Amino acid sequence: MARSLEQLQQQYNSIAKKNAFKQRPQGGPRGRGMMGGKPKSAKKTIARLLTYMHGFRLRFALVLVCMLLTTVTSLIGGYLLAPIINKLTSVVTPDKKLNPSVFEKIADRAITKFAGKFFPGGETMKYVLMALILLGSIYCIGVITTYVQARLMLSISQGMIERIRNDLFAKLQKLPVRFFDSRQTGEIMSRFTNDIDNIDVMINNSFTQIVSGAVTLVGTFIFMVTTSWILTLVTVAFIPVLLFGGFTIGKLSRKYYAAQQSALGAVNGYIEETVTGQKVVKVFNHEECCVEEFSKLNNDMRDKQFKAQFWGGVTGPIMGNTSQVSYAVTVGVGGILLIFGKITVGGLTVFAQYSRQFAMPINMLSQQMATFFSALAGAERVFEVMDEVPEAPDAPDANPMDNMKGHVVMEHVTFGYNPDKTVLKDINLYAKPGQKIAFVGSTGAGKTTITNLLNRFYDIDQGTITIDGVNVKDIKRDVLRKNIAMVLQDTHLFSGTVMENIRYGRLDATDDEVIAAAKTASAHSFIMRLSDGYQTQLDGDGANLSQGQRQLLNIARAALSKAPILVLDEATSSVDTRTERHIEHGMDRLMKDRTTFVIAHRLSTVRNANAIMVLEHGEIIERGDHDDLLEQKGRYYELYTGAKELD
Ligand SMILES: Nc1ncnc2c1ncn2[C@@H]1O[C@H](COP(=O)(O)OP(=O)(O)OP(=O)(O)O)[C@@H](O)[C@H]1O
Ligand SMILES: [Mg+2]
Repeated sequence: MARSLEQLQQQYNSIAKKNAFKQRPQGGPRGRGMMGGKPKSAKKTIARLLTYMHGFRLRFALVLVCMLLTTVTSLIGGYLLAPIINKLTSVVTPDKKLNPSVFEKIADRAITKFAGKFFPGGETMKYVLMALILLGSIYCIGVITTYVQARLMLSISQGMIERIRNDLFAKLQKLPVRFFDSRQTGEIMSRFTNDIDNIDVMINNSFTQIVSGAVTLVGTFIFMVTTSWILTLVTVAFIPVLLFGGFTIGKLSRKYYAAQQSALGAVNGYIEETVTGQKVVKVFNHEECCVEEFSKLNNDMRDKQFKAQFWGGVTGPIMGNTSQVSYAVTVGVGGILLIFGKITVGGLTVFAQYSRQFAMPINMLSQQMATFFSALAGAERVFEVMDEVPEAPDAPDANPMDNMKGHVVMEHVTFGYNPDKTVLKDINLYAKPGQKIAFVGSTGAGKTTITNLLNRFYDIDQGTITIDGVNVKDIKRDVLRKNIAMVLQDTHLFSGTVMENIRYGRLDATDDEVIAAAKTASAHSFIMRLSDGYQTQLDGDGANLSQGQRQLLNIARAALSKAPILVLDEATSSVDTRTERHIEHGMDRLMKDRTTFVIAHRLSTVRNANAIMVLEHGEIIERGDHDDLLEQKGRYYELYTGAKELD
């Protein structure tokens, strides 16, 4: 026996090891990082993003003006060095005939004109002082426009992102249960985190940099051509080399960056899973196996991170050095032109500067475009959720059901979660107000599914469900759900106090009503033993409570609601039998004129039901009250006597 257990353990270990890599969604939601694929239709997505700019248009126009000014001031600022240097050279070598370019002449004339007006003293001194003041003022304008632009852009982007987040969240609340049942929580969450963050970065950084990069490129080029077309040719000749280098390295570093992000996702996922599942890890003595697995993933991440950071790190120096070569050649040719008087000293100085900068906006543009497109792909994923089909809206003539009694009838109901697999077959049942109907049957028989149909979590394929004679499809959805109180099979508590959590069942309930409901649910005594009673803060789905206590709070929530129909799905499965009995009496009193559906594996809880339905593979195979069913000596008898034996 001991040996076979050991073998089993080994077998399990090897399966776990094999699956560990597979389980991590490589490049899945967590590992997706910045390189989130390509957008399907960039134009459409941009147009849709622009709709979120409504109300920000004026601010946006101002941003564009500021961006233009910022870039232009930085270009002109750099250029002003030319006339200053020229002036100083003319002092040193007054005989040398210079051949200034158009812009140099313009700048020279402007400075001379202002200098004569404002300053007394020697001509050169006046000129240089004036030029410096001009330079300072232009940079000051640049500082102001940069500040204004950054602030406005932030307010626009944050405003847009807030709207997108609100829309996405509001949409989620409208989506049918099917949407959540068929997707991983992490996948939905990543739309709010990764994707929206990327849109934010795109609006704030990429967009700004793309615009200013493009303006810088054009501006620099104009200044370069007017200063010396020969030198411009020399610089431009180097562009393909620079572009090719930038492109190749950029591609490599992007590839390794994506690999690094996916490795990071794998490591994070593994940590998260082992932390949340630590108890299971300990129960099965998997600590060592986990460490081994982790170190494998960690090792993989180190490799990928090394490559990503290496290629990310060398991009700058390699590009820098290549442009130094271009710089050296340009200055060399420029020197020759200078000797022949084809260019001024100032012109050459400024040109050399430009030639060094020229490749930068090009590389930056290509890099930002990649981020831009991956953010657009993120935006598409966000819009995809927004375009999901919501729960069908109520018909305009939907019944508001003012005074629902709770007369529930199901006729020939057939349903499957997927069209190719029927889960419920030809279900018929009849429940009068005040009656207690129980569902029993093996795991997966379809008990929870029946209750999901009652409040239209899912719509049925065939048959009809009516309440007080009205088809549930014709009842307003919010009215329907308000009239069906449910204690779901899996409990859920929100962050907040015990009082707030119970009040979730009916928001206008007074404190006294909440306490009365807690008493009905036998929750009062344990709540009073909590540190702050009803004001005790619950966190992380009620992690500081026992499983049974969580169930009691969920029952109290349902007891608070005045709904005429109550569904209890395994509501007391974790509660001791004595407490269960108490709850039952309390609920029976509460539900005297209402309809109750009870699902329970513990058959003692359903004994007093008016009718018990035994479900098997989606079909009701037996029905009747406890005594009838025992007499039939069928499935219920088997279940009941089997359970007794086990007891
Ligand atoms: N969201 C879903 N999507 C697809 N199939 C589902 C879904 N929920 C349940 N099923 C399938 O429907 C069948 C009935 O499930 P249901 O939850 O109704 O069982 P149950 O009787 O409540 O079982 P248990 O006693 O374990 O709670 C099962 O075979 C299950 O695999
Ligand atoms: Mg169930």
